[in-house]
Amino acid sequence: MAAETFAQMPSLADGGAETLAWMRRMRDEQPLWVDAANMHHVFRYADVQAVMSDPARFSSNIGRILPGHDPEQISANLPWLDPPDHRRLRQLVSQAFAPKTVVGLRPRITEIAAGLLAAVPDGEFDFVERVAYPLPVIVVAELLGLPPADRAFFRDCADRLLGVGDAGSAEAGSAAIAEANRELREYLTAEAGRQRGSRSDGLIAALTAAELDGQRLSDVQVATIAGLLLTAGHITTTMVLGNALLCLRDNPEAEARTRADRSLVPAALEEVVRQRPPFPRVVRVSTQDVAIAGGVIPAQRLVVASTLSANHDERQFPDPERFDIDRHPNRHIGFGHGIHFCLGAPLARAETQIMLDLLFDEFAELRVVGEPVHNESEYFGTRKMTVFARRS
Ligand code: HEM
Repeated sequence: MAAETFAQMPSLADGGAETLAWMRRMRDEQPLWVDAANMHHVFRYADVQAVMSDPARFSSNIGRILPGHDPEQISANLPWLDPPDHRRLRQLVSQAFAPKTVVGLRPRITEIAAGLLAAVPDGEFDFVERVAYPLPVIVVAELLGLPPADRAFFRDCADRLLGVGDAGSAEAGSAAIAEANRELREYLTAEAGRQRGSRSDGLIAALTAAELDGQRLSDVQVATIAGLLLTAGHITTTMVLGNALLCLRDNPEAEARTRADRSLVPAALEEVVRQRPPFPRVVRVSTQDVAIAGGVIPAQRLVVASTLSANHDERQFPDPERFDIDRHPNRHIGFGHGIHFCLGAPLARAETQIMLDLLFDEFAELRVVGEPVHNESEYFGTRKMTVFARRS
């Protein structure tokens, strides 16, 4: 799906400037665009929100159009479920991410974040490698109850899922992603089997004991949920931390104010997620002909709703290219919208707020050196960022 379609769009490899200019033109001139692969793209805030608000007409069950997926996995793949199945599974998984559970995690998140910062050298280092990547992966792996020794394996899988490395061609890239998914799934399925009936207090053990429709979840279902949390839970948060440094680099006044008044940290991070959402798009399938954005999307088409474009829509956000930490209300859809609204948002917010606050405490100066390496894949963010840091 992705290869030939997204090749027609500007790449995010330049940090987004070309893509944003293109999206602005699309919002004005072609708010419903059909690409060469017959996928239908919407760009305006109101249209993106409409797609995300209407699971009856815009289904998340991509499997109905892209066959070949294992039904047992699909039954536990939350982002691909529609009501009523979605509601039942979401209820079960969301217990782990209730805002009050996240409040309980804050001391441990702070301890992990402080430990990472204490270990970085003075002077230059790779911010993604030393700070932005490890924090969320350690937190989510602990939450799941996975052994710390396996972190290098997750890193390797995440890199391949992100399309990092020299796959050489789109086909090789897709094969590398499929292989990484398979390895992760096998590992987690074995882990679910190992932890079933154990005394581990992690989420994997809890899921093996949970019931859906009166039946225990299978190892494959538990592995699917765990894999989703492991990948959704760290790649995105890693991106937000790097994106925060870029936004602050470009807006020194906002950095100075946030440093001086830490109560501004949450609003600054919401503005980061608005301007640079790690998930720049969501995909749905039309279940019937739908009139939208001045045209009609026929039934059974893949529909791409651009959260990145919506978050920059001047119809919703005055002066959208301005990084404005006083923006209120800031109804961005970087965490999604509707029934699939990000389940991990309270956790992601806690992790990024704690880390930014500690970065300000630890370093009197924290400067991005040169241009970071931006992802070319579907995640909007950086995979390598050299910073110069001077301790307070
Ligand atoms: C869903 C963004 C962090 C778990 C989503 C969606 C977005 C999103 C846009 C909606 C996808 C759709 O509608 O198709 C983000 C961002 C994050 C982040 C920007 C970081 C700042 C996390 C974390 C976790 C997580 C830390 C868990 C550990 C999930 C799950 C879903 C989801 C399970 C699916 C919810 C459902 O289908 O009901 N996220 N996410 N996310 N996110 Fe996040």
